Amino acid sequence: MPNRLRPLVAGNWKMNGLRRGLVEIAGLCAAVADGAAGAAEIVICPPATLLMKAAEICAGSLVRLGGQDCHVAPRGAFTGDVSAEMLRDAGAAYVILGHSERRTAHGETDERVRLKAAAALTAGLSPIVCVGESHAERRAGRTLAVVLAQLAGSLPEGVAGEDLIIAYEPVWAIGTGLTPTPGDIAEVHGALRHGLEGLLPGHAAEVRILYGGSVKPGNAAELMKVADVDGALVGGASLVCADFLAIASVYREAAL
Ligand code: PGA
Repeated sequence: MPNRLRPLVAGNWKMNGLRRGLVEIAGLCAAVADGAAGAAEIVICPPATLLMKAAEICAGSLVRLGGQDCHVAPRGAFTGDVSAEMLRDAGAAYVILGHSERRTAHGETDERVRLKAAAALTAGLSPIVCVGESHAERRAGRTLAVVLAQLAGSLPEGVAGEDLIIAYEPVWAIGTGLTPTPGDIAEVHGALRHGLEGLLPGHAAEVRILYGGSVKPGNAAELMKVADVDGALVGGASLVCADFLAIASVYREAAL
């Protein structure tokens, strides 16, 4: 059944955003405060450099913040890395982990993602764990095998369902304007839910499963109606307050 859970709409800014871009977050906070997106959980994941400033802007609003990655260790000699504890300290409540751009460009394995998710939970962050197949894997009919293997390999032991968010992001849909058909998304989300039942017996229904990959104001309503889609992970369209708000509002209206 779609949208039983409180929907979550997260914006992944990736490596975009200077201080002047914080105006988009301020606009979002003001709009959400007006009740424009109140019933859905709204999260922005800016670059780590903007987190503390963003946290000041979001204080007292309904908009929450997330990081885009974290190290497996809480601290130490890891030049250039950011720990989950640091993200939490800067004002984050969530962290995106295992995004395909990190799996591809930084060679992140499921095991590494699993350790990062455990570190996030220890620091008090909810991990948004990304899974998704490449175009070649889809063409080879391996989509479900790939995402279920990523799911099983990336989840830390003993995670509570309500603390966990999964994002299904087909690699070929990210930043391309392409999306799977609603039927294809329903098949993958259903398989992920079923996989979660095996991994977290009795708690699969508490896990929010987001769809990500070319979510835009124009297709958000159609994607939201798909069974087992509990929200969206939005890249490019999250950089502009009005577009992100339009997507969030679709979920808000459905949740009312
Ligand atoms: P996109 O990115 O919305 O720009 O396709 C989604 C993501 O990578 O999280």
